[in-house]
Amino acid sequence: MIVAVDGPTASGKGTIAKALAAHYGLPHLDTGLLYRAVGRQVVLDGGNPDDPDDAAKACAFPESLLEDPILRSEETGGLASRVSVHPRVRAALLERQRAFAAQPGGAVLDGRDIGTVIAPDAEVKLFVIASVEARAQRRYLEMRKRGEDTTLAAIEADLAARDERDRNRAQAPLKPAEDAILIDTSDLDREQAIAFAISETDRKIASA
Ligand code: DC
Repeated sequence: MIVAVDGPTASGKGTIAKALAAHYGLPHLDTGLLYRAVGRQVVLDGGNPDDPDDAAKACAFPESLLEDPILRSEETGGLASRVSVHPRVRAALLERQRAFAAQPGGAVLDGRDIGTVIAPDAEVKLFVIASVEARAQRRYLEMRKRGEDTTLAAIEADLAARDERDRNRAQAPLKPAEDAILIDTSDLDREQAIAFAISETDRKIASA
């Protein structure tokens, strides 16, 4: 079974995808991490994330980079969003994601275009959303916990800019697949969101 979990930054899609993978005993791929590695590699190379050649070159990042905690930072998230607009970057990362999805037994992948481009035949497609306010509040608490200095207003502005870029890029923009199940986590806590995602997934499998 392939489970596609898409949605904007800080919607809760990563938490839901991890929990579904554990629940159904499936391997999980956080595809955003691949784009984050490309964004980080551009900086390490002294390049410009908005330049298609620099971004394409950075797709040859070393595997060890995926373990670097700096990939989880807000700054790297912004770089990832910028390199992800380049068609050559998307093409370079496509096969790796498709191969992960195609492994025997299936997989859970989370990202922006899993249900639409990477695994359009996925048995279950979830599209996770939440209001900008709810997402900014979550990010704010996470960052404060890590001791990072920030304000709610700065996070809201950053999220809005990333949403805008991810939704309006020409190739593989962030949007729900026609057959995706919408999950709004604005008023749900972590456990409620996970329980709801599992019940929706069970329902979808039972109706197939
Ligand atoms: O999910 P995330 O915040 O780690 O993703 C970072 C950026 O990577 C996101 O703003 C857009 C890009 N991305 C993408 O274009 N396609 C994906 N499948 C996953 C991420």
